[in-house]
Amino acid sequence: MSTQTFDQALQAADDHIANTAIAPSRWRPAYHLTPPTGWMNDPNGFVQYEGRYHLFYQFWPYGPEWGPMHWGHAVSDDLVRWEHLPTALAPSEEYDSGDGVPGYGCFSGSALVDRDGRLVLMYTGHVDGRQPPQTQNIAISTDGVHFHKSAANPVIPAPPVDGGPDFRDPTMAQIGDRTYAVIGSSAAGRGKALLFATDGDLETWEYVGVAAESTGQEGTMWECPDLFPLADRFALVVSPMQGTLNTFPFIQIGDFQPDSGRFTSDRHYQLDGGIDFYAPQTLVDDTGRRILIGWMQQWFQRNVTAADGWSGAMSIPRELTLDAGVLRQRPVTEIESLRGPARHLGAHEVGTQPLMSDTGASAEVRIVLGPSTAPVARIAVRASSDESEQTVYTVDRRAGRIVCDRSLSGAGDVTSSHVTFDPARESLELRFFIDTCSVELFVDDGAAVMTNRIYPNPDSTGLTITAVGVGTLNVEDFTVWPLSTRQEPSQ
Ligand code: FRU
Repeated sequence: MSTQTFDQALQAADDHIANTAIAPSRWRPAYHLTPPTGWMNDPNGFVQYEGRYHLFYQFWPYGPEWGPMHWGHAVSDDLVRWEHLPTALAPSEEYDSGDGVPGYGCFSGSALVDRDGRLVLMYTGHVDGRQPPQTQNIAISTDGVHFHKSAANPVIPAPPVDGGPDFRDPTMAQIGDRTYAVIGSSAAGRGKALLFATDGDLETWEYVGVAAESTGQEGTMWECPDLFPLADRFALVVSPMQGTLNTFPFIQIGDFQPDSGRFTSDRHYQLDGGIDFYAPQTLVDDTGRRILIGWMQQWFQRNVTAADGWSGAMSIPRELTLDAGVLRQRPVTEIESLRGPARHLGAHEVGTQPLMSDTGASAEVRIVLGPSTAPVARIAVRASSDESEQTVYTVDRRAGRIVCDRSLSGAGDVTSSHVTFDPARESLELRFFIDTCSVELFVDDGAAVMTNRIYPNPDSTGLTITAVGVGTLNVEDFTVWPLSTRQEPSQ
């Protein structure tokens, strides 16, 4: 257990942040949330409270690698311009702190506004070697900034019979008149989402049962489960591990029986076809939108920005919809308020001679490919003038497949990734959100998304579109907007 009290641990973290000037980093994003210094992983406690969006996150302030987890805290009026607030949680108690053990801390969790209007965080206390190592705890705030840990912690002191020692990442949800917490676990080699319920007093929980579990093919451990209504159905998002490796988050669409707590699904989609998207979490806001945000990084990838004293970023928040059975993830419309002046590069017939533009290091680019005689388009972003550096998207219209090749993307991992789309589409819309060290591609009005980190030189800012093989590409639209949080909000 820590020798510091909770208040001392928070003060130490905030003093360290104030005194640690981050070296200007060439990879610091222009419009993605990053930690003030140190390491960031999962989004936590994504919630709207008294009209403002709050986002907490897994945070180790003292270095750019994972360490004893704190909760960082940021706040926003529009989901795209974030302001850092004081550190919300730090390890300090027997159930979340350790001395001389390699792993401990305030692990992932969620937030809920309780019936008294207080902002309540629920998180996993983890201590290596403790029995059990993972318990669920709450912390309460009346001002949305300062939290105290409940004297009733751990409010869920041990996993139920259906779970195992991996028992973490509680996501609270109000469904009907009950408050639930869905918690990730693992037993007999299967990932599980375990359901607890309370009648509103967030300090007393009863076990309901297994909401859902892996077939054996969908992960041996489910991290960060999130269960929520979507259109007239329910959705369950999980971030699965396979053995010791984290794999790709997926969403299941199905039905939820509140009495048995059982969620049965009939559809299953990978949320993102890229490599760098993990542990997403959602909120529903006062406009009724279901918004999802993820950690725009993945475990066991090269930690390139560590050399500059920071690591980790959040994805663009996405609005999740299920319309006539079609799941879409669209960037929240607020992102458009970050646009600088548009450059319309117009409609073009493109052959093997590239259509070129300079996007700058941070931009939104909209490309619409119309009916074309060339079956394959090659789109390179963040390209250097000699093309020795570039991130290449190969868009195969016949196969309905886009491959992102990072072999020339600069520092960082080179693994390629792909998404599919409906090849019957007459016109295919591609929205690239390019930043200093990332590209998020939204395909066909959010029917597919691909998020990848890349680490090119700051001056590799070219974009080229070329037809591959015979025929020409009909580029119906090609528009570039510089994108930055330094743009004034448009009213
Ligand atoms: C997911 C995760 C969670 C855990 C947290 C620790 O990325 O492994 O399961 O709570 O990160 O930082």
